[in-house]
Amino acid sequence: MADRVIAVINQKGGTGKTTLALNLAAGLAQRAATHLVDADPQGSISQWVAMAATHTGLPPVAQPGDDPFATIAQLACTHRYVVVDCPPAIQGDLVAAVMRSVQVILIPVLPSPIDLWASVGMAAALGEARRLNPGLRAGLVLNQLETRNALSRAMREALAEFDIPILQAGMQRRAAYRSAAVEGTSVYGLGKRAQAAVADMEAIIEEVLCL
Ligand SMILES: Nc1ncnc2c1ncn2[C@@H]1O[C@H](COP(=O)(O)OP(=O)(O)OP(=O)(O)O)[C@@H](O)[C@H]1O
Ligand SMILES: [Mg+2]
Repeated sequence: MADRVIAVINQKGGTGKTTLALNLAAGLAQRAATHLVDADPQGSISQWVAMAATHTGLPPVAQPGDDPFATIAQLACTHRYVVVDCPPAIQGDLVAAVMRSVQVILIPVLPSPIDLWASVGMAAALGEARRLNPGLRAGLVLNQLETRNALSRAMREALAEFDIPILQAGMQRRAAYRSAAVEGTSVYGLGKRAQAAVADMEAIIEEVLCL
């Protein structure tokens, strides 16, 4: 039975959902059996994994099918970790079904108040999902950070109004995340040149496993 069933969701496009889902799953796969689910019709994560050589340690990826709840529940019976990548949307049956099926939602956000406000509907969607899935936990993950200390006052104020906890660990802006995608691997598969990105991911994983 799964320890953690995690979905990476944000209505805003391009905030790093696929990057976080793939690298998170790769890090979890080093710990125990892990499966990805590609709930994004764009199919980014499926393409990424399909491109990968067999030795890269990327977990297998499934499509949500007609019944995402059943697909995710079935994978959770046989894998310790399941990670679901979602489209940039919160409307519609697919994301609603994912939100009902998981234990944890991670919301990657870019460190600018304007980008953050584009994600504001997430708080309401989370409240709605909790009516059917009361144990659902959630955390914001800051992505594309230049330096952790450089968050502007406006950004800190915007984050405070969100009412969703923020993980201490975030993802710095690093070429390794892009290289991993180009080379069909995760940051774990890039060796020494991605050490710093692996450290980001390990810190995120340690926090997620305590959520
Ligand atoms: N921390 C980072 N450092 C450098 N590049 C990053 C980082 N995070 C994401 N990127 C790059 O930003 C782009 C968008 O990331 P990604 O595709 O993961 O976003 P997404 O939220 O899944 O987008 P969509 O909403 O279209 O599904 C990609 O080119 C990715 O390689
Ligand atoms: Mg994506």
